[in-house]
Amino acid sequence: MGKVSDLYRQRVADGRIRPDPAQQSMLPHLDRVLDDIAVAPAPEKRSAWRAFLGVGSPPPAPAARGLYLWGGVGRGKSMLMDLMAEAATVPARRVHFHEFMQEIQAGLNRARQRGDQDTVRPVALEVAAQVRLLCFDEMQITDIADAMIVGRLFQVLLEQGVVIVTTSNRVPEDLYKHGLNRQLFLPFIDLIRQRMEVVCLDSQTDHRQGRTAGGQVWFCPADAAARTAMDGIWDELTQGAAVAPQRIAVGGRSFDLPQVAAGVGRTGFWDLCGTPLGPADYLALSRAVKVLMIDAIPRLSASNYNEAKRFVTLIDALYEARVRLVASAADQPEQLYNEGEGSFEFERTASRLREMQDADWGR
Ligand SMILES: Nc1ncnc2c1ncn2[C@@H]1O[C@H](COP(=O)(O)OP(=O)(O)OP(=O)(O)O)[C@@H](O)[C@H]1O
Ligand SMILES: [Mg+2]
Repeated sequence: MGKVSDLYRQRVADGRIRPDPAQQSMLPHLDRVLDDIAVAPAPEKRSAWRAFLGVGSPPPAPAARGLYLWGGVGRGKSMLMDLMAEAATVPARRVHFHEFMQEIQAGLNRARQRGDQDTVRPVALEVAAQVRLLCFDEMQITDIADAMIVGRLFQVLLEQGVVIVTTSNRVPEDLYKHGLNRQLFLPFIDLIRQRMEVVCLDSQTDHRQGRTAGGQVWFCPADAAARTAMDGIWDELTQGAAVAPQRIAVGGRSFDLPQVAAGVGRTGFWDLCGTPLGPADYLALSRAVKVLMIDAIPRLSASNYNEAKRFVTLIDALYEARVRLVASAADQPEQLYNEGEGSFEFERTASRLREMQDADWGR
């Protein structure tokens, strides 16, 4: 395919993206990774089993240095990473951190059932056998179990010659900041610094914001005009990206967000608040998307107290995670739940919903 910088220039020339000097300054770093992979000796192909048993070949030579691309929201980190995966000429995989960890958890369970001592190693070897370049979008570490797994996972992947590129909103030193037993996590930060070049995408522009800023994000009533407006925003935000349902897993349970593309999720009110979901589910959802679009929020009353309560919990989770919300609703936030238990508490939700409509929200 070639260079990331060529693809970027092509996209600008096609009018698909606007030139952004901060993004352009990242291009040599992205090109460098692909160049290094091209000249680095390819690790000898070993089956996962042979590698696991340590037979059949010498330890792989140290591979090219990866890249840790961090910066504020909507700056274009994921977009640049996509270009890189597209430009790569070696087996590459681009995956969202959250999704990848679910896959790893499933592998760990299998390894546990087999009674393996080091459960992470065989799982990491399986991944390493398939790819040379692993693009890991949105690394975020929120608990010590994840922290330990990711540390060990990276160690084995790197040892196997996999080149890792990740995006994150935080500088490595701030990963899992203030987390419990954080000292156990510190060697992982050293590993990142050693094996990955750390660069900051310091752009002035939040490209996502530009698309909804000044624009309406709350449409009422939820009629055909609202639907058309919501469809327009969806098209604008996703720009033809592949749409697929996303499985959100929490503590052994899971639910599907029906439509997800380019970090934007879309769902109907009843799918989200009419089913028995709780705070942990909404928190996981808030971590999985940057923008959530909810169609047809109804007027709520004492007769659907449970749905109203879930809606309050959902908005709290979205608010904490600073997820951008675009919605169609029967009425203005203040008029959605005026009677019944919890209507007093709903005032806070209404106020949050107002704040979340602000053009600056989510920055
Ligand atoms: N130069 C650009 N011109 C036009 N649109 C852009 C440009 N860069 C990024 N975008 C678009 O802006 C949106 C946000 O970009 P992207 O998702 O890559 O940001 P990000 O840095 O990964 O944000 P986050 O930290 O929230 O994940 C995407 O829809 C992307 O296609
Ligand atoms: Mg991103």
